[in-house]
Amino acid sequence: MVSSSLVSISGKMVFLLAINSLLCIPHLAHSSTCTNPPIIFNFGDSNSDTGGLLAGLGIPIRFPNGRAFFRRSTGRLSDGRLLIDFLCQSVNASLLSPYLDSLGSSFSNGANFAVVGSTTLPRNVPFALNVQVMQFKHFKDFSAELASTGVNGLVSYDQFRDALYMIDIGQNDIADSFAHGLSYAQVVKKIPSILAEIKNAIKEIHDQGGRKFWVHNTGPLGCLPQKLALAQNISQSLDSIGCISSYNVAAKLFNEGLLHMCTELRTEIKDASVVYVDVFAIKFDLIANSTSYGFSNPVTACCGAGGPPYNYERRVGCGYPGYQVCDEGSRFVSWDGIHYTEAANSVIASKILSTDYSTPPLAFDFFCQ
Ligand SMILES: *[C@@H]1O[C@H](CO)[C@@H](O)[C@H](O)[C@H]1NC(C)=O
Ligand SMILES: *[C@@H]1O[C@H](CO)[C@@H](O)[C@H](O)[C@H]1NC(C)=O
Ligand SMILES: *[C@@H]1O[C@H](CO)[C@@H](O)[C@H](O)[C@H]1NC(C)=O
Repeated sequence: MVSSSLVSISGKMVFLLAINSLLCIPHLAHSSTCTNPPIIFNFGDSNSDTGGLLAGLGIPIRFPNGRAFFRRSTGRLSDGRLLIDFLCQSVNASLLSPYLDSLGSSFSNGANFAVVGSTTLPRNVPFALNVQVMQFKHFKDFSAELASTGVNGLVSYDQFRDALYMIDIGQNDIADSFAHGLSYAQVVKKIPSILAEIKNAIKEIHDQGGRKFWVHNTGPLGCLPQKLALAQNISQSLDSIGCISSYNVAAKLFNEGLLHMCTELRTEIKDASVVYVDVFAIKFDLIANSTSYGFSNPVTACCGAGGPPYNYERRVGCGYPGYQVCDEGSRFVSWDGIHYTEAANSVIASKILSTDYSTPPLAFDFFCQ
């Protein structure tokens, strides 16, 4: 099935799609001046999982996930590319293989440790942030061990030092807390321990030689159709644009803490670059001003069940019996009620690349080798 959002893509893009499906690992000929793309290691949850859940637990992510770009499900929760895919392509880097994917993967330009549903706490369970960092250490140690036996094409010591380390996590820590019935005040009390985990992860990667960090803050949780649909049943107060106030205020408090933590880190690990990106502001603007970005249904899931206003039902996930999917994914911000469409991710990525939302405002291609 070819989606209408694919049809709306220019002839040039369709040509590239055909090439991509032959190469397996897609490249996109963005006008990047990056002749040596950075090696990238990513840690996080479904916002940046490029197939880790499928590889790690075998849980299928069903079509129509992937329909808009890959034209097959790749294990991403979206109709197409995620933010991280657009960021990779902006520097002419290959899309990241999930660390756990044992077939068809190339790790010469980095690896993706992110897995759907991941949290920072509790630790030591698959695939908590500290587990992802331990996996990274194993990856690094094993690369050195194999290199010493003469294996080629591995990430080298210098490349680990020069690599870009990206982190996008925290959303599930906050969301799960609300879902388990914690009050706003109780959720807020958990924020410092979530932040401590992220700080710890960055320091451990720094101890391993990493020097370049790129940290995404968390999005407006209270604007997700899933949360709105569930909140109908538990009566939550909505803000002026129709999002759940308490969820968004908690997300903002987390983000303030994350910004502060990044500032602290810059004084504690002086030889490192730490870029904090305000993804919340970008996503909130996209939802509040959706029509000016060409979207018409900011809080309706394209792929779900139950119809408007949210098209989300807990028991009928996208791709599972009974789901309904919109024709024009490019008109929707939300893909499945939790994750964003490729069209939304594309807008968000271009705003991230503008540096207007970054502290400090380092361009993404600063990290080219
Ligand atoms: C982008 O990557 C491709 C394949 O690795 C390479 O052939 C091409 O020269 C790169 N383009 C730029 C602008 O660096
Ligand atoms: C809300 O409650 C109704 C009635 O109990 C139920 O049918 C519906 O599935 C619930 N909505 C969600 C999103 O769980
Ligand atoms: C929506 O757009 C207006 C005009 O550009 C801007 O002032 C406002 O801050 C935007 N809303 C959000 C939530 O960003």
